[in-house]
Amino acid sequence: MKTTQTIAIIGATGNMGSALAKSLSKGNYRLLLCANDLDKARAVAEDIRKNNPAAAAEATDCSVEASWEADMIIVAVPYAAEKEVARRIREVANQKIVISIANPLNDTYNGLVTAPDTSAAEELQQLLPNSRVIKAFNTTFAADFATPVIDGKQVDAFIAGNDADALQVVSELVSTAGFHPIEAGELTVSRTLERMQLLLIQLNSKYNYNWRAGWKILHQ
Ligand SMILES: NC(=O)c1ccc[n+]([C@@H]2O[C@H](COP(=O)([O-])OP(=O)(O)OC[C@H]3O[C@@H](n4cnc5c(N)ncnc54)[C@H](OP(=O)(O)O)[C@@H]3O)[C@@H](O)[C@H]2O)c1
Repeated sequence: MKTTQTIAIIGATGNMGSALAKSLSKGNYRLLLCANDLDKARAVAEDIRKNNPAAAAEATDCSVEASWEADMIIVAVPYAAEKEVARRIREVANQKIVISIANPLNDTYNGLVTAPDTSAAEELQQLLPNSRVIKAFNTTFAADFATPVIDGKQVDAFIAGNDADALQVVSELVSTAGFHPIEAGELTVSRTLERMQLLLIQLNSKYNYNWRAGWKILHQ
């Protein structure tokens, strides 16, 4: 029998953190919901248990303890807060899978704040040199998690990273959340993935998709 993996979600009270927590609570995972505001984190955990009494979801306000206990860590905070989070969890995230979901958007959403020859994910890897950083869930909107099927098609979710085992583990996570995982390549591919979401955000505004949009590769 597969052992239950523990996942720490840092920023679990945000749009993405709470959407991820709700989706992943359907899988065989123990979730540590981490936020600065413990009451808000408890409310997310209670909401999950109300809908799924069998779910293992606990609230905490200590990202260090949560990351220490976890097998996998999802950094669901704004790009600007990643440096601080990485500094706090660096030691306890040793060898662990750390998922970068960030899109380093500028204030007007017409560009990224990262240089063209890097990405938020690669920066996180530099800040956490002994962790296995994987890019995932950055091309899916928080609103997609409730129903990851749009217009009859399962939304694709791209994954990038340098560690084959970690890519496999995160692929399963993406499937549990209801998306179709596509392993897109090494961590440097995050440069493209982060720009893909910039484009989707711009198209969302232009065509009024109401944040219910996603990528789908059509193929034979
Ligand atoms: N929203 C989307 O559809 C979407 C899609 C793909 C990727 N993303 C990416 O997902 C990440 C989160 O986005 P979001 O929309 O969920 O943002 P959000 O709703 O503003 O949530 C951010 C979360 O991070 C926490 N946080 C903020 N600063 C922190 C710090 N210094 N230390 C620890 N926790 C901190 C917040 O807690 P407090 O409220 O207590 O400050 C909150 O729980 C971003 O990197 C974004 O680019 C978002």
